[in-house]
Formats: sequence, structure tokens, C-alpha cells
Amino acid sequence: MISASAPAKLILSGEHAVVYGAPALAAAVSPRAQVRVSELPKPEVVLLLDGIEQRLSILDCLDMQADLDDAHEAFLDGELEIQDVLESGRQLFFYLAAQWLQPDSRQGVKIELDSAIPIGAGLGSSAATIAAVASALAQFYGEPMDASQLIALTRFVERLQHGRGSAIDATTVVQGGVLYLHQDQVETLAPLQGPWWLVHSGQPQCSTGECVSQVRQQFADSSLWQTFSQVTQGLRQALLEHDQAGIISAISANQRLLEQIGVVPAPVQQFIRQLEAKGGAAKVCGAGAIRGDQAGAVLVYGVDPSDLALAAGYRCTALQGEQDGAHVA
Ligand code: MEV
Repeated sequence: MISASAPAKLILSGEHAVVYGAPALAAAVSPRAQVRVSELPKPEVVLLLDGIEQRLSILDCLDMQADLDDAHEAFLDGELEIQDVLESGRQLFFYLAAQWLQPDSRQGVKIELDSAIPIGAGLGSSAATIAAVASALAQFYGEPMDASQLIALTRFVERLQHGRGSAIDATTVVQGGVLYLHQDQVETLAPLQGPWWLVHSGQPQCSTGECVSQVRQQFADSSLWQTFSQVTQGLRQALLEHDQAGIISAISANQRLLEQIGVVPAPVQQFIRQLEAKGGAAKVCGAGAIRGDQAGAVLVYGVDPSDLALAAGYRCTALQGEQDGAHVA
């Protein structure tokens, strides 16, 4: 049996802008997605996730892989919306397993996935689970991958769910630590020093793919990405200098830009204004939401949000960085 895990990720600055080539800052954080992969005596793939077991024969798994590849092509050609490519997130793990399967295999594989990363919170749950499962499967089939191969595979599989996104989630969960990413360059920064918190509403956001495509329709050619870029560079500098006031100002500026591109639900905006009134800064994490009250998670800096979070019915935890990226145990 092979075990592997990968951390959640949090974008400190530059989500959406990173899709258009602007820099972004991201951190690997706890919790982690854990996976166990073991051999089965029959030629089938079994997935155990959230207490539900699903199985596909190896041939069905390979057929599903081909169908998903076709649907993805149709999306890239503009014939399908990204929401119509994947029936359920579970398919991604069968698709991953198919990368190593042979039609004449006599043995199968069982994938037991246990992730404490909330889904749809902007915490990179899909990237973490994909990276953990891919590391375990690669090791199981005797073809361990280096970090760049794992990032490439994680990103490729994530695109079946999210469409044309950036490599930020995949890179952060595979590498771990605090990263400044600009196009193909990745700089590792020192671990985050408090006072950072994560507040989670318990409600999932819209799907990342849907959000990214809506933002693309309205803002693809916007000069806002340049402003995002300056804000992210400012935050990088403030982090390097441990400049609390600079961090607060950059996080707030980033939040305002996310509001301008329409990915901050009203209740979250109100919550963030209350934290700002107490001298802190906060921003939505990940893709955000383009409609309704779907809130996901909020990153908070500089002020303890416990009381306000309790009053809003949100959960609040001190942020815990993860220096270790995806790895086999
Ligand atoms: C999602 O975690 C981050 C986005 O920038 C999308 C992406 O970069 O792929 C919204």
C-alpha cells in the first residue's frame, strides 16, 4: 500500500489576475488531503471517498478517460461549456488512474481518499486531492514523478474541472511553502508570520471554472490586471520587510479589485468591511462567487476575527502554513 498527501492552498494576492499573466502570491496551508492506494486482485478501479465506494472495470475506466478527453477538446473548441465537461468531481480520480492502466491488466487498484479540505472554499481542494492521488498512483505503478511532472499532471487534470486556469493551485500544493509566482518563475518566500486567520462560511463558492469564464467574458482585456500586478508586488515587498501596515494595505487593495471584477458576494463584503473598521484587512480566497451569497473562505490579517465570525455564523481558525508540498509518506 502507498500513502500520500498534499496541502490546501490559499491565494494571498492575485487570483484571477494570474490567469492573464500577472504575478500572484500563494501559500500552502493545512489541512491536507490524504490518500491510500492499494492493489486489487480484479481488473477494476475502486474509489472510496466520503464513505461512498464506486467501482469501474479497467476497460470502463479507459473508455471514460477517452470520453473526457473528447469533451475537453470540445470545450477548447468552444463547442461545450466547462460545466458540461465533467459529470462529477469523482470522475477526475478514475481519469487519473487511467493514466497508468493497461487494457489487459489483471490486477486493479483501490484509491481511498480522505480530505479535510473544504470543497468550494477557494482552498484548492481539487488540486490537493489530484496531486495526492497522482503522487500515490505514480509511486504505486513504479513511475514516481518529480515536482514539475506532478505540477503538469495536476494542472492538466484540474483543467477538466476548471477550464483554462493558471498553474497556481497545482504549483502551490505540489511545492508547499509561500510562493511568489510570475509566469514560469517561482520564488519561495519565508513562512508567513502571524496574525493571519482563515474564516470559512461553510457555504461553497461558485465553481472555479464558471467564475473564471464569467470574469474572462467581462474583463479579459481590462487594465485592472496591471493594477492587480502592482498590488501583488507591493504585498511581496511588505512580506519580505515584515511591514504590517504594508500587508494590510495590499490585502485591502486586492480585495477592492476582487470586488471590482464582481467575485465578492454581498455578505462577505459586509463582513470584510467590519474587519477593516477594526483595523485589519481581509479578502476572499480563490475564485470567489459571481452570484448569490455563496461565500467560501476569507483570509484575514491584522485583527482577530473570532467575535465577528461567531456573530456571522462563520468558522474561524488561525492560519497554519505547510512547508511540505505533495509527497508520498
Ligand atoms: C483559483 O484558485 C484561482 C484563480 O485565479 C483561477 C486560476 O488561477 O486558475 C481564480
